[in-house]
Amino acid sequence: MATRKKSKRAYPWTDKVGDHTITFELMKPEDRDRMLRFTQSLPADDVMFLRKDITQPVIIDDWIEKIRRGATKTVLAHNEKGDIVGYASLHLDQLLWTRHLGEIRVVISPKLRGIGLGRRLVHEMFEVGRQLKLQRIVVNMRRDQIHVQQMLERLGFKAEALLTDWLMDAAGRTHDLLVMSCRLEES
Ligand SMILES: CC(C)(COP(=O)(O)OP(=O)(O)OC[C@H]1O[C@@H](n2cnc3c(N)ncnc32)[C@H](O)[C@@H]1OP(=O)(O)O)[C@@H](O)C(=O)NCCC(=O)NCCS
Repeated sequence: MATRKKSKRAYPWTDKVGDHTITFELMKPEDRDRMLRFTQSLPADDVMFLRKDITQPVIIDDWIEKIRRGATKTVLAHNEKGDIVGYASLHLDQLLWTRHLGEIRVVISPKLRGIGLGRRLVHEMFEVGRQLKLQRIVVNMRRDQIHVQQMLERLGFKAEALLTDWLMDAAGRTHDLLVMSCRLEES
């Protein structure tokens, strides 16, 4: 079990990440258009491997609806101009058997990768998960995303399952799915 500092987070909050001043806040319905600007600025390779095509307005609308219902919590990161430069989402499973789990997804602007923003946002997801009394955080990714696995291992995640040819990308090619998870300490 990973040990992490417990702190009740109040959003928004601002901090330095590398040389950048970044504000972290919970995504709201009013963030629809700037989120769309962010997702449409992502390289095609990133979007191809995401579960849903988040460049489509209808998918962002569905995302916002899930936030309204409380099925998803998203912490977005924006720069001093207010442009979104990354986000992390926690998706809650309403099924009886898996209601103690939350699945996270993290996406950072290619221009700000490698400065620690992804790691910060995963920490935000730990905090959000603890506040929701979740017991475990899960990440699904392609098996070949080695640097993502290494980053998550350093944050306390462990590999749980490897599913062969489980994912199909937009071009119709299949890929193996790796499931990793991390237990949250009790709040
Ligand atoms: C994966 C991703 C979120 C990482 O975000 P990031 O802000 O660049 O990550 P960080 O700067 O916080 O780096 C965290 C660690 O990973 C390492 N790392 C990050 N990107 C790396 C890369 N391309 N190659 C090698 N190492 C990398 C960093 O060196 C750092 O190591 P440390 O823990 O020893 O300091 C980002 O690359 C991304 O948005 N990828 C596309 C979407 C995706 O694949 N999401 C993950 C699945 S949900």
